[in-house]
Amino acid sequence: MNICSLVWNFIGAGIFGFLINLPVVSYYEIGTNLTADHAHAAFMGEFGMLAVVSLVFALRQVSSEAHLEKMQRYLRVSFWRLNLGLSGMVVLNLFPSGVLQLPDATKNGFWHTRSADFSSRPLMVVLEWVRLPADLVFILL
Ligand code: HEM
Repeated sequence: MNICSLVWNFIGAGIFGFLINLPVVSYYEIGTNLTADHAHAAFMGEFGMLAVVSLVFALRQVSSEAHLEKMQRYLRVSFWRLNLGLSGMVVLNLFPSGVLQLPDATKNGFWHTRSADFSSRPLMVVLEWVRLPADLVFILL
């Protein structure tokens, strides 16, 4: 769990943060899904996972060996589901839809990337729906 927090720090803050940090990029992409992409990967990825690490650490202190043994299976499932769910959100929806919004923002302005006209384009609708399974994996499992 601790390692995944570090990996998400590298991806979310390091890659996706720097990607939107240059003023000329930031001017156009602000508020698009590239922001949400960075925010989810950095915030949930690093600090959300770190909160889960702390919880597991505390549980280890108060649980018996036998109980910890039983917990391992659930922790393993939770580890993979949290990471796969978050990766799915980022890869299937937030990053690609942000990339689609960026050229539209430079051409037609930010307001247009948020309009119903843009959001109802077939590819944007597909990207919105393919996120659903990733969200469900993250939330339910
Ligand atoms: C773990 C560290 C980080 C966390 C938790 C984090 C979290 C966030 C969050 C939640 C937002 C969204 C704010 C909003 O919606 O108004 C944001 C925006 C932003 N972050 Fe980070 N961030 C981190 C590191 C970085 C780094 C290292 C960079 C650049 C090198 C960066 C650049 C930006 C920029 C440029 C925005 C504004 C984007 C926009 O409004 O369009 N962040 N960050």
